[in-house]
Amino acid sequence: MKWLSLALVLAGPSEAALRFGCSTVSIQRLDPLVEPGKIPSAHLHQIVGGNAFNATMVGDISEKATCTTCTFSEDFSNYWTAVMFFRHTNGSYKRVPLMQNTALPNGINGGMTIYYTQQDFTSNGNQKITAFKPGFRMTVGSPTYSAAPSSSGNPGLRFVCLDNKATRFPELPTFPTKPCKGGIMTVHHFPACWDGKNLDSPDHQSHMYNTVREAFTPAGPCPASHPVRMPQLAYETLWDTTQFNDMWPTDGSQPFVLSFGDHVGYGTHADYVFGWKGDSLQRAMDSSCMFTACENGRPLKSQSVADMNKCSVKSTVHENIDGWLTSLPGQPSMSM
Ligand SMILES: *[C@@H]1O[C@H](CO)[C@@H](O)[C@H](O)[C@H]1NC(C)=O
Ligand SMILES: *[C@@H]1O[C@H](CO)[C@@H](O)[C@H](O)[C@H]1NC(C)=O
Repeated sequence: MKWLSLALVLAGPSEAALRFGCSTVSIQRLDPLVEPGKIPSAHLHQIVGGNAFNATMVGDISEKATCTTCTFSEDFSNYWTAVMFFRHTNGSYKRVPLMQNTALPNGINGGMTIYYTQQDFTSNGNQKITAFKPGFRMTVGSPTYSAAPSSSGNPGLRFVCLDNKATRFPELPTFPTKPCKGGIMTVHHFPACWDGKNLDSPDHQSHMYNTVREAFTPAGPCPASHPVRMPQLAYETLWDTTQFNDMWPTDGSQPFVLSFGDHVGYGTHADYVFGWKGDSLQRAMDSSCMFTACENGRPLKSQSVADMNKCSVKSTVHENIDGWLTSLPGQPSMSM
C-alpha cells in the first residue's frame, strides 16, 4: 500500500479528458470476453477499435492489432455493446443503424464515442489516475437484469430520447416510451475503482467497483477494497431510429429491442478490452489536454477519419443481420 499513498501525495491536479470517435470495426455474434471461443456467441454485438477483435483474445492486444477505427492511432482497445433492433407489429425485426455523434469529425462510419476522463470532467480529485494494464478487461451491466437493479445497480447505464444529436437529458433507465425525433442514445459508464491486482475476474466485474453517479457528475471516492482510481471510461452510442417512427405500434407499445431480446432496457451492458500501446493512455491521463487538443502528438498520435474507416475485421460468423428478419440473430422468436 505504500506506493499508493505516495502516489496520492505526488499527484498534482490533472484535467485530461479524452473524447473521441471510433468507426464500426465489426457487427457480428462474437463475445471474446463473456463467451471466449464460442462461434457464434449468444447475441449480436457492434464493436469498435482495433482489428485484433476475434472470438478469442488473450494477452496484450496492442501487440496483435495492426489498425484501429479510433481517432487515436495507438488505441487498439475493443469497445462493444449489444445491437438495437426494431420489432414490427407483424413480428419481423430490422437492425437499427448506428449514426455518428455530434462534435466529432465528419464521415465517421457509425461506431461509438469513447470517453476517458478523470474523477470527473475537470479534476482528478488530486489522485493519480492509473491507466489500465495490458490484458485488462471488464464488463458493465448484464443481459440477465430484467428489473430495475437495486442499489447495486449502475446509474451510469442510460437511454436518452434524442430531439437532436446534442440532446443529453433526461437520462432514462429504460427505453424511451415515445418515438424520438432524433434517434436514441445509449450511454454506458464503467466503474473506475480497481482492486489493484486482477486484470479480470470470473464475472468480469468484481475486480472493479462502481462509484459512478448519473451522467458525467463527479464520482464518489474509491473504497479500500478497490483503492486504485482508473480512468472513467464511458461510451455513447447513437441509434438512428427515425426511419421507424411512422411504424410505431398503434397500441402505444415500445417497439425497440436489444439483440438479446430485452425490450425494456434494464439488461443494457457493455464490454471493454484494453489495448493502448505502451504507456500512451497513462501519458494522456497525466497531461492536461482535453478532447481534440490531445491529438497530433500532444500527447497522443491521431489519424484521419479516412484511415479510421479503412480498418475493419473480417467476419468469422456469417449470417444475415440486415433486412427484415424473422427473429433476432441467435435468439428464439418471441411471442407477440
Ligand atoms: C479469428 O480466429 C479464427 C480462428 O478462430 C481465424 O481463422 C481468423 O483468422 C481470426 N481472424 C483474425 C482477424 O485474426
Ligand atoms: C413486416 O413489415 C415490413 C415493413 O412493411 C415488411 O417489409 C416485412 O416483410 C413484414 N414482415 C412480414 C412477416 O410480413
